[in-house]
Amino acid sequence: MKHADVIIIGSGIAALQLANKLAKNINVMILTKKDLRTGNSYMAQGGVAAAMAPGDDFYLHYLDTLEAGAHHNNAEAVLEMTKSAPKLIKDLWEGGCTFDEDSNGSLLLGMEGAHSRNRIIHSGGDATGKHMVDHLLSKFDGNISVKPSVFVYELLLNKEKNTCIGVKAKHPDGRNDVYLAPHIVVATGGCGQLYSFTSNAETATGDGMALAYRAGAMLADMEFVQFHPTLLYLEGKTRGLISEAVRGEGAILVTAEGKRIMDGVHPLKDLAPRHIVSQTIYDYLRKGTQIYLDITPVSDFSSRFPTISELCRKHGIDLKEGLIPVVPGSHFIMGGIKTDLHGRTNINGLYAIGEAACTGIHGANRLASNSLLEGMFVGGKLADWINQQLGGKVDTYYTAQNAKVFHDMELPDADVLKKAMMDRAGIVRTREALVHQKDWLAKYGLEEWLEASLDHLGTDEIDRVFMYITAWLITEAAFQRTESRGGHYREDFPHEDPYNWMKRQIIHQRKTVKDGKHEYNQIAFAT
Ligand code: SIN
Repeated sequence: MKHADVIIIGSGIAALQLANKLAKNINVMILTKKDLRTGNSYMAQGGVAAAMAPGDDFYLHYLDTLEAGAHHNNAEAVLEMTKSAPKLIKDLWEGGCTFDEDSNGSLLLGMEGAHSRNRIIHSGGDATGKHMVDHLLSKFDGNISVKPSVFVYELLLNKEKNTCIGVKAKHPDGRNDVYLAPHIVVATGGCGQLYSFTSNAETATGDGMALAYRAGAMLADMEFVQFHPTLLYLEGKTRGLISEAVRGEGAILVTAEGKRIMDGVHPLKDLAPRHIVSQTIYDYLRKGTQIYLDITPVSDFSSRFPTISELCRKHGIDLKEGLIPVVPGSHFIMGGIKTDLHGRTNINGLYAIGEAACTGIHGANRLASNSLLEGMFVGGKLADWINQQLGGKVDTYYTAQNAKVFHDMELPDADVLKKAMMDRAGIVRTREALVHQKDWLAKYGLEEWLEASLDHLGTDEIDRVFMYITAWLITEAAFQRTESRGGHYREDFPHEDPYNWMKRQIIHQRKTVKDGKHEYNQIAFAT
């Protein structure tokens, strides 16, 4: 049994920002499933949005965020974040984080979809995440310890006090361990790997959401999954992200015959909000037409986008020909563990930050380059809050939960699950397909998997359990929401329905109903 003051599960940008901003007398332990440089934050290409250009204003950034989010956002939170963004960038820059500058030493500001101004701060061209993660790691002090390849599979609760007091984790040698702390932070990232087409790192399997749901935390907005329009596509597989910044520099989406597919679809054309671009490409793909990103309008492509150029070269794409075959794929989930702006959940001592959390900032669709920003912003705010909690005591009492041992339980194979999610709960959804998916998932025994002890399973199996639970959360929420909004598109309800759905959130919370017989999962609505 090991103790710390703060345990952070995961090691993306939000986690690293939090760790650095906690007071130096606080003992911080980071438990990460793989290692520090394998997650989505490290792979982030585009950049960080902040209103820093002459003529730009945080209020314009705020309005763009609400517009992209289909006005489902927590507007107050968006206002605070967009206002804080320039200072967050300045602090990093002055602290030695390198961002791309012009010859006068001013920041170069790129453009991405649904932004009304150039405001994307980037580093290394298209290696922003890598530079920021490396910078934050270089600032680590002796109070922070990192434990790689430690897979957290259960949150430990004192149920009488509704308090999270620790975690159970697996080591690579199969050993299980208990880690206790008065502050437990879920920063495990998203769940892009639930879909067969994804830009996400292998580790993005929805762990934090499933962990929190099993423990009784509230989740919100799980139906809102963002599909990035342009993933490199070859031989039936996606091979990595082609940043939206490429379209920001002038690239256009075309058919093989050169027809511009975004003309007449949206006034912002190729830089329309992501769901509109993704749905348009998807329509062509369904009719058997491959779509390409024509990069010939981009000057000096290889030096502006070195990471993407290398990715293309590795896969035999000749950049001189100027056409990159693309498809949309899952990129980000706007929903997650429901928190306030300090990352606090409905369980004492349990917090969530980064993509695992739902602060409401992103609404129904995240504005490009707002995710690293949100991670830094909320990570910093949670640090401020924990720093004020003097002398948190480690509780060692926890109530046994998730403790039942079942035999002969099955799980869907990961590839089968991913394909089923892509086909039935993906870019275009219908009641029929969602019912099919719900029935199919139900066959594997959700109730049992929510209660089952995972102590005896290997990490690959636990990954599949978490993927299965998170797939159910998304499917159920997508089924419930009978309108289209942001990243959630229902072909049978193709329009926004402000009368029934404006600002309404679908909340998942596992409730035990003590009627003496059974327990069930309860879905509630909040406005
Ligand atoms: C991109 O570079 O297109 C992705 C950036 C983001 O999702 O914010």
